[in-house]
Amino acid sequence: MTAAVSAPEKPETKAPRLSNTRPGTRQHLLSVANLGPDGINELLRLTDMFVEIGRRPIPRVPALRGKTVVSLFFEESTRTRLSFEMAAKRLSADTMSFSVSTSSVKKGESLRDTVETIEAMGIDAIVVRHSAAGVPWQIANWTEGASVINAGDGWHEHPTQALLDCYTIRQQRGSLEGLQIAIVGDIRHSRVARSDVLAFSALGARVTVVAPPTLLPPSLHGWPVEVSHHLEAVLPSCDVVYLLRLQRERMTEALLPSLREYTATYGLTRQRARLLGDRALIMHPGPVNRGVEIAAEVADQPNSVITRQVRNGVAVRMAALYLLLGSGVDLGA
Ligand code: NCD
Repeated sequence: MTAAVSAPEKPETKAPRLSNTRPGTRQHLLSVANLGPDGINELLRLTDMFVEIGRRPIPRVPALRGKTVVSLFFEESTRTRLSFEMAAKRLSADTMSFSVSTSSVKKGESLRDTVETIEAMGIDAIVVRHSAAGVPWQIANWTEGASVINAGDGWHEHPTQALLDCYTIRQQRGSLEGLQIAIVGDIRHSRVARSDVLAFSALGARVTVVAPPTLLPPSLHGWPVEVSHHLEAVLPSCDVVYLLRLQRERMTEALLPSLREYTATYGLTRQRARLLGDRALIMHPGPVNRGVEIAAEVADQPNSVITRQVRNGVAVRMAALYLLLGSGVDLGA
C-alpha cells in the first residue's frame, strides 16, 4: 500500500523553530515559513563558522560523532543529496543513502513502512526529498526519535536551498535588507521560488517574480511579491537576478508555445545581462539548462555566484545538522 499524501498549504509541524537549545527535544527543519527571521539569522550566523571550518586543511569536526544521518530521496538530485552527505561527513556523522530504484519500494512497500524500517535501525536524522508536498511532515509524525529535514517536497518548499541562497547574498552584499531581487522563470512549479520568496522577504528584500502568466501560481494571494512579465524592465534595478529551470517534469499541459520563444522573452541572454548593474548578482539553484533560462556564457560571468551557492550549501547544511543534532561538542572555532 502506498501512503497517500495531500499537499497542505500550511502543514502542521511539531517543531516550529530550528534550535538545539532544548537538549533531548526532537527538532525538524521542514519549512522556511516556520523559521522566521530569527531562525534564519541564527542559522546564517552559525554557517560563518562552518565556512571557516571548510577552509581548514582537514575540514572535519567531531560534532556529530556517533550520529547517523540517512538521505531518503524519492526524486533525482545531484547537489542537494551530495551536499547533505558531505555536510554530515564533515561533522563526523555516519551516513546512509536510500535509493528508490534499489529498495523494497520497488516491491510495493509503503512510504510509512519504509520510514519505520529505517528508523528502527536507530538513526538520528532523515533528509527527505519527495515529489509530493507534505511528505516531510508525514514522516515527522510517523517517526519518534529522528529529526526530519525537508530537502524538497513537490512544488512546496526547499528550505536549505533558500538558506544557502540567503547566505550567499549576505556574503556578497552584507545584508538582504532593501535589496531588489527578481526571481525569473517557472515560479508555478518551483519549491525553490516558494522558499526563497519567504526567506528573502523575511530578511527585508523586495522580491519581484518575473514569468509568463502560465508559469505563475494560480493565485499569488499572500505572496509578498510584485509581479512582472517584462524582464528587461526589471533588470536595471535588480541587485540579484535569480533564474529558475523550467520544471518540465511537473508540467502536465502545454504552458509554453516553445522553448525558443521562452528563451527569447524570459531567458537571461548576453544582451539582457548587460542591463544589470555592475554589482548585481546572477543566481540559479541548479541544475542549469544552459541556453534556455540563461545563456551559457552568462552563467560563467564573474558576477554569477552559482558555484558559490553550491559551495555555501555544504556549510549551511552543516549548520542545520549541527543545530538539529548538535551534541554540545566544542567545535574549536
Ligand atoms: C532544485 C530542486 O530540486 O528543487 N534544485 C536544487 O535542489 N538545487 C531546482 C530544480 O530542480 O530545478
